[in-house]
Amino acid sequence: MEKLWGGRFEKNTDSLMEDFNSSIGFDKKLYHFDIVGSKAHATMLAKSGIISDKECKEIVDALMEIECEIESGKVEFSTKNEDIHMNIEVLLTNKIGETGKKLHTARSRNDQIALDLKLYSRDAVINIQELLKQWIKTLIKVSEDNIDTVMPGYTHLQRAQPITLAHHLMAYAEMAKRDYLKLSSWLDIHDTNPLGSGALAGTTFEIDRQYTTELLGFSSPTLNSLDGVSDRDYAIDLLSNASVGMMHLSRLCEELILWSSQEFGFVEIDDAYSTGSSMMPQKKNPDAAELIRGKTGRVYGDLLSLLTTMKGIPLAYNKDMQEDKECLFDGVETWIKCLTIIIPMIKTMKIKNDNMYKAASGGFTNATDLADYLVKKGVAFRDAHKITGEIVLDCIYKDITLEEISINEYKKYCDLIEEDVYGEISVLSCIRKRNIVGGPSGEYVKKHIDIMNTFLVDK
Ligand code: ARG
Repeated sequence: MEKLWGGRFEKNTDSLMEDFNSSIGFDKKLYHFDIVGSKAHATMLAKSGIISDKECKEIVDALMEIECEIESGKVEFSTKNEDIHMNIEVLLTNKIGETGKKLHTARSRNDQIALDLKLYSRDAVINIQELLKQWIKTLIKVSEDNIDTVMPGYTHLQRAQPITLAHHLMAYAEMAKRDYLKLSSWLDIHDTNPLGSGALAGTTFEIDRQYTTELLGFSSPTLNSLDGVSDRDYAIDLLSNASVGMMHLSRLCEELILWSSQEFGFVEIDDAYSTGSSMMPQKKNPDAAELIRGKTGRVYGDLLSLLTTMKGIPLAYNKDMQEDKECLFDGVETWIKCLTIIIPMIKTMKIKNDNMYKAASGGFTNATDLADYLVKKGVAFRDAHKITGEIVLDCIYKDITLEEISINEYKKYCDLIEEDVYGEISVLSCIRKRNIVGGPSGEYVKKHIDIMNTFLVDK
């Protein structure tokens, strides 16, 4: 089969090389964006008088037919035609003959792929933003149901201070909000159209880049043709956002894996999102959460792979850049899949309030409150910290909690301690009193939820 670029060649491509060189196996995913780009290009060529209106109509109609044919599974792509661009061009020429050969006027596959991949990325960003909104809504819903679900907050994975499940989950809503906002700024930064950059140095034809820019919904054309064809920052930024987004999901999944163990017993993940063991009949494993944690590493790999591919490439296009696609597709699709599964997993998870409460009331999570109580009675904080530490140590030896110390015993440590201490160190009041911006009190967390809801409405 004659190659579209075969004119200056005397020999055929080696079949191993053909296979090695071709990207159709993975870039066929871009068919829709390739056709969108070609339609805009043809329309612009006609408007600029480079092809006739009749030719443009023929090309655009045929491209739409080809898109339907691809979608109905009728089309067989060929590695001989290397990539999605040439496969579609061959289909077009087979359909409409000579006119099809005019489509590639004033265009290179270099600006074509830069455009296709950017259109793919933009579409993915919009979809992911929608999913992130659903994710935030899910976190809000579970938080609303658990405003008073007491649990221990941890540092160093040691029980630290009492919080609520709502407070804990709303931390993840903040992370998702940042993920969302980063994608909004992605949409701003990368809102430029590379089509018209040609192979590297634009074109001698008087094309109208502003027009394709409008047709394709960008706010301006790229302003340097070398950069237009060789920029993959948009793919790197998207993978970087995906990596951070996945890291957020992974941290929560790590917690769910711990929390669903018998040692913690804080939650039970629904059967629908768990799996069993082929050998151990009693097992119910949090596989979905583990897979999200595992796939996070893979997305980091996608980012690193593309960064490394790009780091040594001289301007402008080099074939190395064909390696941008699989990692971008993988990172994007993995992020989408993980968001899609974590939403119902969190919605259906059973929360074991009693166990969480018990864990929060043991382990001296109210020790800071006892120290703060002493400070409010006039003791300097450093002394209060020391006295409380000594009380805790004695409790550990006696195997009792702070609530179980009698008032007479308390007075031996510090005679400023009075009956009101018990009210101050009860787990519920520890939470209620932390009623500041960002704190775990039910009153504040409800305000935080309101703020988050307003954020969602504005988006
Ligand atoms: N399949 C190529 C890629 O994905 C398209 C651009 C090819 N350009 C070239 N000059 N060989 O990068």
